[in-house]
Amino acid sequence: MINIIIDTLRESALRIDTLLKQQSGGYLQSTNASGDMQLEVDVEADKIFQDSLLELPCVKAICSEEQEKICPSHYTDAPYIVAYDPLDGSSLIDSNLSIGSIFGIYNEELSAKHLIASGYIIYGPRLEMVIAQEQVLHYRYDGMQWRNLGALQLNTKGKINAPGGTQKHWENKHKTMIESLFAQGYRLRYSGGMVPDLHQILIKGGGLFSYPATSDAPNGKLRKLFEVFPLAFIYEKAGGFATNGTQRLLELGVEHIHESCPCFFGSKEEMELVRKIYE
Ligand code: AHG
Repeated sequence: MINIIIDTLRESALRIDTLLKQQSGGYLQSTNASGDMQLEVDVEADKIFQDSLLELPCVKAICSEEQEKICPSHYTDAPYIVAYDPLDGSSLIDSNLSIGSIFGIYNEELSAKHLIASGYIIYGPRLEMVIAQEQVLHYRYDGMQWRNLGALQLNTKGKINAPGGTQKHWENKHKTMIESLFAQGYRLRYSGGMVPDLHQILIKGGGLFSYPATSDAPNGKLRKLFEVFPLAFIYEKAGGFATNGTQRLLELGVEHIHESCPCFFGSKEEMELVRKIYE
């Protein structure tokens, strides 16, 4: 049944990729549940996911970053809830940078413990998808079909440092940690899109992506159900780790569907540094 959901997401990826290439991508007069200005493509991508997922008899509900509430399907006894961010980083469209869609498939309940598969689609020079179940598999669309490029695995240590958030609002200990990585020779790689930034770390073998608590956003910016848990699941299955500084992300509770939290994703050695600095 999970494969039916994944196939549906694959089809949606093709439709959204076409939409991104055809539309002008202007802003609407509306904001989403987190107060972000919505682009026309945010709303259309959301509708593509929603309409196709709600048709599946194994999907009980969907939960979108663009919508205030959980949307139930007609299949009330179905097991799965799919939470997704239809277009993460859509404010980068006008700069023509890569953006992504992120999804998590939850069994019965919307909590980290019930996440059973997750993934993302990356709309860049190529259309690709990463899907984590037991393994983290990397797919590329070749114009005719999705090709499996193999499993992704993180090294124990990498070379990339992707530090999110506004620096003037960072805590001193966070600043010290980021500077210490640069002093060790880590390279800055940060586009402002969570999908391409985390994808790059996975593809290049390792590093650290951080979006910490800041004085202007004490709970961070990235949302648990649509962004943080799905990526934490991927990173752990790829042999890395993901934490909020003091706790494993996949053990955190959720009080409301749009809740955010500080988050750090990376390979094992960088995550050990995060633990030492934050604990
Ligand atoms: P959104 O698409 O909701 O505008 O935000 C994108 C997210 C995420 O993709 C990225 O990692 C983060 O916002 C970047 O935020 P900063 O610009 O604050 O670094």
